Amino acid sequence: MSIDTDFPATAKLTYLNAANVALMPRSASDYVEAWQRDIAENGSLNFNEVAEDLVFDEVRGAFAKLIGANATDVAVASSASEFVASIAWAVMPPAGTRIVTTDIVFPSTSYPWARVSRHTGAEMHYVASRDGVIDEEELIAAIDDRTSVVSISHVEYSTGQRFNLKRIADAAARVGAFFLVDASQSLGAVPLDVREVAIDALVTTSYKWLCGPFGVGLAYISPKRQQTLDPGITGWRSHSEIYDLQAERCVYHNDARRFEFSTMAYGCAGALARSLEYLRAIGISNIMSRNLALVDQLIAGLSGLDIKMVSPLASETRSSIISCKFPDIESKTIVKLLEQKQIFVSPRRDYFRISPHLYNTSRDIDRLIEELRAIRKADRRASQ
Ligand SMILES: Cc1ncc(COP(=O)(O)O)c(C=O)c1O
Repeated sequence: MSIDTDFPATAKLTYLNAANVALMPRSASDYVEAWQRDIAENGSLNFNEVAEDLVFDEVRGAFAKLIGANATDVAVASSASEFVASIAWAVMPPAGTRIVTTDIVFPSTSYPWARVSRHTGAEMHYVASRDGVIDEEELIAAIDDRTSVVSISHVEYSTGQRFNLKRIADAAARVGAFFLVDASQSLGAVPLDVREVAIDALVTTSYKWLCGPFGVGLAYISPKRQQTLDPGITGWRSHSEIYDLQAERCVYHNDARRFEFSTMAYGCAGALARSLEYLRAIGISNIMSRNLALVDQLIAGLSGLDIKMVSPLASETRSSIISCKFPDIESKTIVKLLEQKQIFVSPRRDYFRISPHLYNTSRDIDRLIEELRAIRKADRRASQ
C-alpha cells in the first residue's frame, strides 16, 4: 500500500476536497474500468444472471463490517438521496406529528420528508442554526412527544459540525421517533458502529470519505424496523427472487434488501467494495487521527491569516471539514485563485471549505496556507 501509487493525482494536485468528491484508490478505479470494458466487449457472457443476482454481496459485506452490522442489514442503490426518499415514504409520518431536522442539513436529508409531509399533513421542524452552527442541546430539546422522525447528518456538509449521535439517538428513542442519519460526510473518516448507537436507518453516498465512485448509495436499516417498512421506491429488484419477474406478485426480502429496486451502474458497487477494503486495511480510527492532526495544523496556519472560522473548533464537534472566510475577499474568488495553483477546495455559501483526507500530507496544508497568505498580501497591496 503506497499513497503515491494508489492515488496518482496526489503527484500533481493539492487535493483538499473530500467533502465534495474524494480521490479513489487505484484498485477501485481499475475495477470499475475493467467491469465496464467487460460489458462493452462481452455483454452478458461473464456478467450473467447469476452474477447479477449476487452482484451486491461483496459491497454489502464490506459495508456491514465497516459499521458493525450484518450484511442483510444493508441495501445498495445509486445514491444516498434515493434511499432517504424511499425511507421517508415508507415511514410516512402522520398528521399531527413533527419531523425534526436542522436548517443547515444537506437538502437530500430534509426534502423527502417535506414532500411526504405535504402529503400526510405532518409538520417539518427545522432547528435554527446560528452562524452556521447548530446548538446540540436545542436539537435534543426539539425532540418532544410530537416527534415521529429525527433526520440529521452525522457531520454537516457545510461546516463539518459533528453531532454526538448517541445522545440524539437516545432522545429519539425516548419518544419512539424514527432516527435517520445521513453519514455521507462521516463514514470513511469517522468510526461509527451501529451496535453502539440506536439508529433506525443510516444512508451514505460513496464518492466522498468512502473514496468510492459516483453512482452508489448504501443504506443500513435496523433489524427492528426492516420488516415493517414498505419502501417508497419499488422496482423489479424489490422482489426477493429477482428473476421470478411476476408483474402481479412482489415478495420483499425480510431484511434491508427490500430497499433495493433496480439495476444500477453495477461496476461501481464492486469498485466501492475495493475502496471499503482499502480503508478498512488502514483502519478508520487511524484515518480519523491522521485527518484531525492535519486539521490541527490547518487551524494553526489559518489563525495567522486574519480569517474567520465558521466551523466549530471544540474537539468533540470537529471533523475533517474546516470552513472559513476572509472578511474582505469573496470566497468564490479565493477558490478560483487556489484552483489556478492546482489547490482544490469548495465554495459553500459565503465561505470556503477545506477537507483533507487520508491521501493528504502536512506539505499539502503548508502549500494551502502559503497560497492563502500570498492571496491576502496581493489583495492588501491592490487596495492600498
Ligand atoms: C450529507 C450529504 N448527503 C448526501 C449527499 C448526496 O449524496 P448522493 O449524491 O448519493 O445522493 C451529499 C452530497 O454533497 C451530502 O453532503
